[in-house]
Amino acid sequence: MKGRAFFYSFKTRVTLVLILAMVSVTGLNNFLVYRFNLNTHFVQLRHSLMIIAQMAALAVDGETLQKIPLTWDGVRSPAYREVAAKLNKVLEMNKPLQYIYVLTKTKTPGKLKFLFDTEAAGREVQRKRGSARPGDFYDASRFPEMLEGFNAPSADHKLQADPWGVTLSGYAPILGKDGKVIAILGVDILADDISKMQQEIRGRMAVVLLSGVLFCCVLGILIAGSVSNPVRRLTEGTRQLARENLDYRVAVRSRDEIGGLADSFNKMAESLSQSRKRLQNYFFKVTQSLVQALEAKDPYTQGHSKRVANLARKVALELGVSPEKAELIWCVAELHDIGKLVIHETILNKKEKLDPEEWKILKEHPVTGEKILESVLDEELLRVIRSHHERVDGKGYPDGLKGDEIDLSSQIVSIADAYDAMTSIRSYRKPLTPEVAVREIERASGTQFRAEVVSAFLKVVGRPEKMGEPK
Ligand SMILES: [Fe+2]
Ligand SMILES: [Fe+2]
Repeated sequence: MKGRAFFYSFKTRVTLVLILAMVSVTGLNNFLVYRFNLNTHFVQLRHSLMIIAQMAALAVDGETLQKIPLTWDGVRSPAYREVAAKLNKVLEMNKPLQYIYVLTKTKTPGKLKFLFDTEAAGREVQRKRGSARPGDFYDASRFPEMLEGFNAPSADHKLQADPWGVTLSGYAPILGKDGKVIAILGVDILADDISKMQQEIRGRMAVVLLSGVLFCCVLGILIAGSVSNPVRRLTEGTRQLARENLDYRVAVRSRDEIGGLADSFNKMAESLSQSRKRLQNYFFKVTQSLVQALEAKDPYTQGHSKRVANLARKVALELGVSPEKAELIWCVAELHDIGKLVIHETILNKKEKLDPEEWKILKEHPVTGEKILESVLDEELLRVIRSHHERVDGKGYPDGLKGDEIDLSSQIVSIADAYDAMTSIRSYRKPLTPEVAVREIERASGTQFRAEVVSAFLKVVGRPEKMGEPK
């Protein structure tokens, strides 16, 4: 469930959308740059091959070239060796160039004849093809760029395959003494070497892409945080409001719509807080009137409600109840006996022991009190009115609840009520001293009251040996 909540959270979704958008843009951008780099690299390679071919062609003397006999033994001729010395140097200076060769036209269109090949010149390189000897034929009809080389420097537009392998080549014309084209010089670079170069570009682009993605993730998380944090604070604010914490305010300092929402939220919370205070005031006044009405009927209980309320609040705070809840307990404790309003004074003020019928009527006051305040108090507070005469051993009334079935607030009011009843004067008996009353309550721990409530009560009123009156 936590995983689902994480996935559906506003922050996660904003983060994912932002990261996805930024990664897409970065990825597309990288792809375009990669394609552009590859194309540029290919164009530059073609251009370089043309320049190298042109420079090599210029290094070859046309006259010497024409002296090479077009036979297999031509490789041993001084002219061949002279050309080989120059072109092998060019080859070594231009790595990863693989082959340099010279071809001349024959009478058959598209068919060329080898004049020179660096391989046949015995260069110490890894041989990947057999060498071509002077006079060997080469079919160039499939390679228009090669034939173009007789007119001007040119280069293949794509990788070309021939019996010697897959290569990219550049071509340039070689001029004779009279300035006429006598042959073309070709330079080859192997496809493997090109793919190695492209691999390097790919590697560099992958590093750039990964850095970009990482940057997008960090940026996405930061931006999403700045958007969702105010929303999270607002959500927390509404939660606090739902828990009736009306003093909670949302701290969002921004001028956008969320900032405006936070301002409105704070104003609403302030207004609710004011309304609650007014209602509490109003309720307090009504309570006072009801209590006065009750105490007018039963002069012996004068001040009883107020004393019970004060003591209950202290015990509640001692038990770690929140100040807001202790205040509510104080308020409801004042009303705990309100059900006695409907009991006739003759019963309330009777000096003799009550008969069973009268006792039955008196025991109805918690339920009557609950009915009187039904439309004013919430369920939790009404329970206190109903259960303030319940006992943990189940011998209380009206419901005979046991142990934890009795809520803590009811027990707090119950113990305060019992203590005040014992220590104040009643129509039927004299008051007990506080020491005796406290001992009675101690004795009732675990039967009438919960041990923890008795213990908090003792801390409030003090142990019998060092007691003072509860204030
Ligand atoms: Fe009562
Ligand atoms: Fe009472």
